[in-house]
Amino acid sequence: MEKHWIKKVRYLPNIVCLVGAISLALGLVECSNIGEKATIIQEPLPYKMDALKPYISEQTMRFHYGKHYAGYVDKANQLLKTGGFEGKTAEEIIALTAGKKEYTSIFNNVAQAWNHAFFWKCLKPGGGTINAEVADRIIKSFGSFDKFKQKFLEAAKSRFGSGWTWLVLDGDKLKIVTTGNADTPIAHGLKPLFTVDVWEHAYYLDYQNRRADYVRQVLNHLVNWDFIASRLKSKQA
Ligand SMILES: [Fe+2]
Repeated sequence: MEKHWIKKVRYLPNIVCLVGAISLALGLVECSNIGEKATIIQEPLPYKMDALKPYISEQTMRFHYGKHYAGYVDKANQLLKTGGFEGKTAEEIIALTAGKKEYTSIFNNVAQAWNHAFFWKCLKPGGGTINAEVADRIIKSFGSFDKFKQKFLEAAKSRFGSGWTWLVLDGDKLKIVTTGNADTPIAHGLKPLFTVDVWEHAYYLDYQNRRADYVRQVLNHLVNWDFIASRLKSKQA
């Protein structure tokens, strides 16, 4: 995944404002008066709030993107004001804080911001066509496309409480894994290719307690196969 969100700025306030204004105009990043501190940027949603209907409603997206995701980004930036992570990427902060009790809050909020920014890219209105190379890898790894979906669905259902279900690359092998709460595969040396957020805030307004129905609809209608193909080719974590 592209290195994102972290800006380190010093001694260049005018340039920062100019860059911020241009970025805002392009809809790429938020303006941030960040002094010397690292900050995490709320990435723009790559489609309209209502673009995932009828499988994910506009109301869910307004809460999920506009409240929950925005909340993780804001909280992460508040916590990062204490210093110690200047100039670090989100991926680097996750690696530095994973498993360390004194950094639990920073890890949780930075990882949740990373996971959500990744999740938005995993979805695409209409889904699109699966790339031949991706299809081949999935069939070789799971036996068939249907078996892949079944295994992913079972993993999503079995994740107790809040968390994420992922398709990852472990070395050269495709695997389906789940993580709890804010945990993320990049903290465990795994390369994420695709994820579905299975926190209740991702589906409760539309599906109530029917998590499996939500995940099934995502798998059948909203998977951004082009993104998975690009992740397979990318050398980035
Ligand atoms: Fe979420």
